Order: sequence, then structure tokens, then C-alpha cells
Amino acid sequence: MFENYQAPEELVPTDPRFGCGPSLIPTEYVESLLKTGNHLLGTSHRKAPIKNLVKGIQEGLREYFKIPEDYSIVVGNGGATFLFDAIALGMVKKKIHHFTCGEFSEKWFKSSAMVPWIEASKTAVEFGKGITPEYVEGVDMICATLNETSTGVIIDSLPEMKGDCLLAIDATSGGGQVTCDLSKVDCYFFSPQKVFASEGGFYVAILSPAARKRALEIAGDKSRYVPGIMDWKVAIDNSDKNQTYNTPSVSTLFFLNEQIKTMNKVGYNAVIEDGLKKANLVYNWANEKPYLSCFIEEDKYRSTAVATIDVDDKVDVGALLKNLESKQQVYGIDAYRKLGRNQFRISLFYNISFADIEKLTKLLSHAIESEL
Ligand SMILES: Cc1ncc(COP(=O)(O)O)c(C=O)c1O
Repeated sequence: MFENYQAPEELVPTDPRFGCGPSLIPTEYVESLLKTGNHLLGTSHRKAPIKNLVKGIQEGLREYFKIPEDYSIVVGNGGATFLFDAIALGMVKKKIHHFTCGEFSEKWFKSSAMVPWIEASKTAVEFGKGITPEYVEGVDMICATLNETSTGVIIDSLPEMKGDCLLAIDATSGGGQVTCDLSKVDCYFFSPQKVFASEGGFYVAILSPAARKRALEIAGDKSRYVPGIMDWKVAIDNSDKNQTYNTPSVSTLFFLNEQIKTMNKVGYNAVIEDGLKKANLVYNWANEKPYLSCFIEEDKYRSTAVATIDVDDKVDVGALLKNLESKQQVYGIDAYRKLGRNQFRISLFYNISFADIEKLTKLLSHAIESEL
């Protein structure tokens, strides 16, 4: 199937990258980086040019998300997976509760469950279903995933928190594009290789005063061993000085800063609206075509950042994507590998244009309808 398929030229997207991370980095950013010549790459992260980049990222994010002044923007190496462990080791007093609905939220739960001196519990739904996080009595941290990248599920609301219980949100693939009131979250974190169009291996963690206080208290408790690389005090102290604890990738900082500038020019509401428009296009397409269906049944949980579309078993999605990849026309729309479904998983991140999403849907329909 699809061995001899030829895509009509007018349906080929202008950029083939539709993956959910690493995501489309505009080639203009790479050209801008090239223009910095020998003044940025290969210079010290303790010196002004790189510290200014970090400062630009922190100030740009504060503007974009309207982050309250007393919240801290902590940055460092390692990405969201690193933070799963750092949070469990350094931000939880005794009990943590997770809301899980897919591979990444489950992975986060498993990280917490590995730490012997805290107790981890979870409320889980099967993959493909949505979940609304709620306040849980008796725990000191609640965790939810803003956009479950493996299944394309977003959370529809935040829990009403009580007492000193902290709310942590993994915003890795939704951050910036899926609505979330950061003033109601204590630890909002993401890796930048998704909506923020940079490279992986880096994290941003936005901490409320309560989360900062908790992290510093635990860091000061010498009866609890936390590896130096995961020490929140070290991360916070460095971030307060526009630095990272250890050497960062300068190009990652550069691309992230470029994307934040782009998104600030457009504004938070317009970025959210753009995601919604693209999501409507893809979900309406799936509803109209007899060989497609939305994987996520409940509308309110359908992601506006990552759309998952099931495809009839008569269609060999693997063969179709092999054809399009080999011609360098479409990359990265396979289902999340462990999900093992006959499915398209399409990124709706800000840098992917509405026009290209429209072309992609038409191209996929053209290919399928020419073989069925
Ligand atoms: C929701 C979510 N959380 C965490 C991660 C892990 O991020 P990283 O690979 O940067 O550690 C991902 C990666 O795709 C993700 O989508």
C-alpha cells in the first residue's frame, strides 16, 4: 500500500515538520544564530552575552504568561524528565498525588514512586480518556499534566487548592498554547522543544513563593540527601543571577529566546486562538471522513496542541508515512510509539501554520482516498 503514491505538489506542506517534539524550529532562527558569528557560541555562560540571553528568556516568559512578580523563573539543564525526579526529591514533604492519563503522566508518577521516603498515590484513567485533577486531602503536592503528549489530552480545569498543598503542572507540550492560570499553579514546568521551538535537554520551572519556600526548606534539611545537580537551592540561586548551575547549550537558549520574542509579538491570547483554530480544522476533518475518528472522545479533553486521529485498519498508516518521509514531505505524525495505534498524531504548535495543517489534512485524505 502507498508504494507508488505521488503527492500532488499543491498539497505538499511548505515545512515537513509536524512532530510533537522535537518540533519545528524556524530556519530563520538558525540564520540569526549564524549571524552571531564568533561572539556567542563558545563563550562563557558566566559572562554578559549568555547571562543576557537567560535574562531575556526569564523576562520574556514573565511578560508572555503574565507571571506574578513574586514568582521565580528557574532554568537549568535536564528537561522535564529531570524535573520529575528533582520535584520528588526536593519539593515533596511526605505525600504526592498524581493524576495520570498517558505515558508521560505515568512516567512522572513512577519517578515519584521510586523515592522511598515519600508516599506516591495516583488517580488514573485508561489511555485515551481525559482526567480532571482535584484537590486530595492529606497530601502535600498534587501533580497533573497540562497536555498529555502521548494521547493528546488536555486538562480542562485546575483544582481548588487548600492549605500548604502545592500544585505542580507538567506543561511540557502544552505550555504557552494551552490555557492555564499560572497564578494558581505552584510549579509550572516545561522543556522547550515543543511549543517553544528550541532544543531538548533544558527546563523552565516557574515557582510560586510557596513552592520556592518549600524547595529551599527541603534543600536546607541535611537529613535528606538530594544529588547536587538536583539541589533546588543551587538552581534557584543561579537562576536569580540569570545563570544555570552547570554549562548550558547556548543554541538552546538562543532558539528559546527567539521563540519567546516571536510569541510575545503575537501575544498569549492570539497564540491560544491559533491553536484552537488548527485543532478545530483537524477534529472537523476527522469527524467528516468515514475512515478517520478522534481518539479522544470527550470534546473538552481534546488537545489544542497535539491532535490524535485514529485511522481505519484498512489503511496502513506506517506505509503511508514511510512514503511521505522518504520524499521529505511530512515528518513526525506517527502515533506515540508505545501506544501502538493506527493513528496520526499531529502537532498543532504555534510555528506550524494553519495553511500547512490544512495542506496536510488534504494530502492525507488524497493519499488514503486514492488507495481505498
Ligand atoms: C508531557 C511531557 N512530559 C515530559 C516529557 C519529557 O520531556 P524531556 O524529554 O524534555 O525530558 C515530554 C516529552 O515529550 C512530554 O511530552
